[in-house]
Amino acid sequence: MVPKISTLSGYIFEYQKSITNPTGFWANIAETFYWRKKWDQVLTWDFKKADVKWFLNAKLNITENIFERHLFHRGNQTAIIWEPNDPNDATVKLSYFELFDKVNQFALILKQQGIEKGDRVAIYMPMVPELAITMLACARIGAVHSVIFAGFSAQSLADRIIDAGAKLLVTSDGGYRGSKTIPIKQIADEAMESCKCVKTAIVLKRTNEPVTMKPGRDVWWHDLTQQINGTIEAEIMDAEDPLFILYTSGSTGKPKGVVHTIGGYMVYTAYTFRNVFQYGDGDIYFCSADIGWITGHSYLVYGPLLTGATTLIFEGIPTWPDAGRFWEIVDKYQVNQFYTAPTALRSLMAMGMKWLDGKHLTSLKVLGTVGEPINEEAWHWYHDHIGKNRCPIVDTWWQTETGGIMISPLAGIIPTKPSYATLPFMGIRPAIVDQEGNELMGNSVEGNLCIAYPWPGMARTIWGDHERFRETYFSTFQNLYFTGDGVKRDEDGYYRILGRVDDVINVSGHRMGTAEVENAINEHPLVNESAVVGYPHAIKGQGIFAFVVCTEFSTGGEEGVRNSILVGVSKFIGAFARPDKIVFVKGLPKTRSGKIMRRILRNIAEGQYTNFGDTTTLLDPDIVTEIVVAAQKLG
Ligand code: WTA
Repeated sequence: MVPKISTLSGYIFEYQKSITNPTGFWANIAETFYWRKKWDQVLTWDFKKADVKWFLNAKLNITENIFERHLFHRGNQTAIIWEPNDPNDATVKLSYFELFDKVNQFALILKQQGIEKGDRVAIYMPMVPELAITMLACARIGAVHSVIFAGFSAQSLADRIIDAGAKLLVTSDGGYRGSKTIPIKQIADEAMESCKCVKTAIVLKRTNEPVTMKPGRDVWWHDLTQQINGTIEAEIMDAEDPLFILYTSGSTGKPKGVVHTIGGYMVYTAYTFRNVFQYGDGDIYFCSADIGWITGHSYLVYGPLLTGATTLIFEGIPTWPDAGRFWEIVDKYQVNQFYTAPTALRSLMAMGMKWLDGKHLTSLKVLGTVGEPINEEAWHWYHDHIGKNRCPIVDTWWQTETGGIMISPLAGIIPTKPSYATLPFMGIRPAIVDQEGNELMGNSVEGNLCIAYPWPGMARTIWGDHERFRETYFSTFQNLYFTGDGVKRDEDGYYRILGRVDDVINVSGHRMGTAEVENAINEHPLVNESAVVGYPHAIKGQGIFAFVVCTEFSTGGEEGVRNSILVGVSKFIGAFARPDKIVFVKGLPKTRSGKIMRRILRNIAEGQYTNFGDTTTLLDPDIVTEIVVAAQKLG
């Protein structure tokens, strides 16, 4: 296993080392992996050209680092625990040996279907073990996987398949999400109509939905696996060959196919996984993210399996059959580390405490969050009621493009602070710059979050469009990777992510993160969640428009809650941060990954009630109409 830091002084020492001698530091970590050939040089980089390479000319296969490296010691250990959507259905447990067999088998099948090193394979599947098996089978033969989240529409799926030029699609008849059945194959069929590049679709039977199998194109997973068995020699890959493409959901423009390469991604995801979660032998680790997003790639599949961990894949949703499902799973498998999104926590918190009745949660050691700023109220709820005041919360800041966790506590080692991602991970040099790109030194500063030095897990390009990669991330500020996030470094040197910079509001010269205002609003006991956006204001420059979801209203009605929110915001931030308008809505326009589509709210806040552009990625497009009606009533 990769080394684990176990004390605060150890972190300080290792961090210093990683910053003063990054190449020596990462070479040492990389030494703990299995390479067919070691690198000639650790790193070459040029941020002006967006050109970064790690472990040059090194040869390896990432699956040999998951299997061959571990089989001797832990072949019989469980690699994957699969909890099905329906709690009464049977659990699946796959040992490292069993997973190895299945990956080999599917790798042979892909080969037989004509897939070669460098070919792209699209994956559109529910959360089943076969999804991870397919990814690893691709990696075994050097094919590039592109997983598309199973909640995407046919159009979005087609766009992504075409952009990547995928030859083969792996999908399923259907998928379960709580009480719903999703017609996955039907959506895939619609998408494939416009994708000439796809020659073969392999279809896993999951729900037994009736589906149409197109002769000459569609084949059943079970027919193929009945015919083929055996092992396959891992393809020897260059460290800088692509491992996968993952499209970012981006609320505007064409989706970007973020490309990660094998060597650096392997070293970075395994090392961050082990250290951030302090994973130890025998622990059961549960990440509730969907594999269709980067968190699922890095911290459900690659990071844990490279570490020889036991990783739990959950097919269903947190609220079915009831809002106690996560906690039931934690107790059922005696989960030690639990990693989820603040949005899930807030929705569970809103459903009340009764779902925690009878849940022990005693096995938990570490809790994690990812994907968005966590408000203090949700942080405390998580800390007090789930972690029972004894589990450190790792608030992990990172992005699809960063490949792995960048700013985060190491569990139990770096002291936490509610809603702070705390300190940078080894080798990460955050730079906070102002609008002109001047670096703001010292503590108690706030600005644009950039990264000043390469790290092994960073994306290398955007598929088919390197210039877009350079322009998006390396042209805003000279010689820096620009994250698009705003950040504050407080008096202790701790980092707090303020949300996307394009969401920063400037009211009468006061800059504030939408997340900060939302935090304050969410403190109100009747508020479930909220989103604020800026809108043009004749006197202040920008005003604040708040969209607020309340579970119920007290005797004072809307007006009562509105007034007490204003008092609360004044109390938590200052009178200047008080929203100019508060509209109560039933829900927020969220993408399926839980991100609020602020563009829509900004339009509404500006009084533009039509032409919202592409809303196909919204979880519930009808919510937009409801919000418009509420906003119009407010005037
Ligand atoms: C936001 C998810 C605050 C941030 C891994 C970032 C966060 C974007 C945090 C990336 C966090 C992620 N605190 N904000 N702990 N983690 N974000 O690509 O704005 O889906 O830029 O990657 O999510 O989202 P992505």
